[in-house]
Amino acid sequence: MAILVTGGAGFIGSHTCVELLNAGEEIVVMDNFYNSNSRALDGIKEITGKSFKFYEDDMLDMPAIDRIFADNDIEQVIHFAGYKCVPESVQKPLVYYSNNLRGTFNILETMKKYGCTKFVFSSSATVYGIPETVPVKEDFPLSAINPYGSTKLIIENLCREMYAADSSWTMILLRYFNPVGAHKSGKIGEDPNGIPNNLMPIVLDKAAGKRDVLQVAGNDYPTPDGSCVRDYIHVVDLAKGHVAAVKKARAMNGGCPAYNLGTGNGYSVIEILDAFQRVNGIDLGYTIGPRRAGDAATTYSDPSLAEKELGWKAELGIEDMCRDAWSFRKIREAENK
Ligand code: WQD
Repeated sequence: MAILVTGGAGFIGSHTCVELLNAGEEIVVMDNFYNSNSRALDGIKEITGKSFKFYEDDMLDMPAIDRIFADNDIEQVIHFAGYKCVPESVQKPLVYYSNNLRGTFNILETMKKYGCTKFVFSSSATVYGIPETVPVKEDFPLSAINPYGSTKLIIENLCREMYAADSSWTMILLRYFNPVGAHKSGKIGEDPNGIPNNLMPIVLDKAAGKRDVLQVAGNDYPTPDGSCVRDYIHVVDLAKGHVAAVKKARAMNGGCPAYNLGTGNGYSVIEILDAFQRVNGIDLGYTIGPRRAGDAATTYSDPSLAEKELGWKAELGIEDMCRDAWSFRKIREAENK
């Protein structure tokens, strides 16, 4: 029995594949390399010393998905594949709805056809909208504040309604906060194809001399230093949370729980930048710029339910995140020369 990992060559997907293989799981990976590349697959194999079947396929290609299930005994699916750039989703809502929703429908319909009933979904803290209080708990109100978030919320609702209609489904919804960092080997990390929008890829571009300006998007928020506070979580901790979810799904006979995968700690943008400079001995030369539309002042998780029910807790801190992210980027820069 194998775990199908859709989007398994991506940032979180590749780190999850490493931890699944390290945990003795058999995996099958599917990715269309829209926002990833085959070097991630090589990295997974080098780190673990293990191999796995890979399908370069698109989740919009229903016959391709069917072939994966026909050729492999898939026990459960971890579904990462999807577009995830918030500003791009605002510009292209139909592209985001069409890709993220049709693709997920194809996966779930094929799972149903083959009697595969265990689905671990890559959801996001964005389904909380702008929370009124912190820390954020799983029973907080859900809302969408951008098309990307809408697709995540719609898929969560579909999972809940599928379980309500047929209790044989086991759906685990994992709500990520702010994933950053890289595997300490430096063989896999955040290696996006497009123009980065998130803080850490932008910091790395600045540190690597690929960007002239690094701005803190506002320092007039009601926070200790005025910059926004977020719950940054090391991608390796996040990956280990997926291993715990797979084991939980295996032990369940129906359900649709949601879990926050965060550290429960909030760090400001300026704290992250200062930590990055400190652990890597780099002067980022950042400046203070205007607020970014749509940003919440403060959001961080209460991860206690994941600790209680998944037996999982984040272990790495922001220094690890900053050090590992830069280590990976330095290696990539050297390889690309
Ligand atoms: C973090 C903070 C920015 C760039 C997004 C998605 C969320 C999830 C994680 C997928 C913010 C500030 C940024 C810069 C800055 N993704 N910033 N200067 O917005 O918390 O969450 O990514 O699930 O769904 O919404 O993350 O990394 O974009 O920004 O000051 O050049 O860094 O304003 O306060 P965010 P982010």
